[in-house]
Amino acid sequence: MSTSKFISKETFKVIEKTSFTWKTPSNIALVKYWGKRNPQIPKNASISFTLKNCHTITTINFNKKKSSDIDFEIYFDGIKKEDFKPKITKFFERILEYCPYILNYKMEIHSENSFPHSSGIASSASGMSAIAMCLMSLEKELNSKLSDDFLKQKASFLARLGSGSASRSIEGPLVVWGEHPEIEGSSDLFGIRYPYNVHSIFKNYQDTILLVDKGEKQVSSTVGHNLMHNHPYAEKRFIQANENLGKLSEILQKGDIKSFIQLVESEALTLHAMMLTSSPYFILMKPNTLQVINEIWKYRDDNNSNICFTLDAGANVHVLYPEDEKELVERFIDDKLAKYCQKNQYICDSTGLGAVQE
Ligand code: DP6
Repeated sequence: MSTSKFISKETFKVIEKTSFTWKTPSNIALVKYWGKRNPQIPKNASISFTLKNCHTITTINFNKKKSSDIDFEIYFDGIKKEDFKPKITKFFERILEYCPYILNYKMEIHSENSFPHSSGIASSASGMSAIAMCLMSLEKELNSKLSDDFLKQKASFLARLGSGSASRSIEGPLVVWGEHPEIEGSSDLFGIRYPYNVHSIFKNYQDTILLVDKGEKQVSSTVGHNLMHNHPYAEKRFIQANENLGKLSEILQKGDIKSFIQLVESEALTLHAMMLTSSPYFILMKPNTLQVINEIWKYRDDNNSNICFTLDAGANVHVLYPEDEKELVERFIDDKLAKYCQKNQYICDSTGLGAVQE
């Protein structure tokens, strides 16, 4: 698919000032994106649950200006953040071709997260998707003929250029990003809502995020994805991920929860296996990550439960379970898992529907 449909061709009017606020969620991948090529094209397709409670709220104030450069300030929790600027500058430079109208405005960006800043939860997905949605609201104000479906697709396209996983944070509850032969409409350029019926057991799926390690990420995603270049197992991994997405698609439709558990946990461990076997190599799990995994396996066996885990590129554990086990699993987490978290902290979340204008 070509990117030309996202290039705005008309000459835009310039308005004096306007402002938009969007709340966009984080997401948790079931089949992982790990490995990309320029410009932010994934080496394999991925799928994620969109979350509900972990989100970013971003307001952008646009004020007309004369100069023709990219001009913005970023505030996080009310504090001006010079150190956030390089990443966002790079993002604006990348999307300029698609959103030339941003040059007409000084942009004041105000952002806050619902989750603690230093929680080890990646905020790039919710952060970049929120900026993308604010830009799309501006584009709509400048050209009211654009449909909401197009604007959402373009928002995902832009968010991807900021952070790959951000392309999966516009819609919900399940989003596929990356071209895949068994997922109609899937694209390397943007995320799409999973297009088939999903079994009721996966409705309102629960995700409790155990904050095992709240430190700064040991490996930035840029470094991490780069580890897949010249990685001895990379090509096999990309094939496997695409096969796993095909399998998961069937599992989601049939409601085959036992296979879901096996596939999702294997994906998480494979992601970490890629880091264990790269050069340089990294161990991103902490001792408590393994303690939690073993407790989850024991609880599952002892109680015939459908609880399972997944991991991001860090030590925190996402505990996934169906809604009908909520009460029992929450008690288990409180009794047995909270002690492995820093300051006993965890976040209760579940699947959500994506970006909301405030
Ligand atoms: C392990 O989307 O953070 O969470 O495109 O470089 O911003 P960039 O990477 P990013 O990578 C996410 C990797 C992951 C798996 C996933 O979310 O699919």
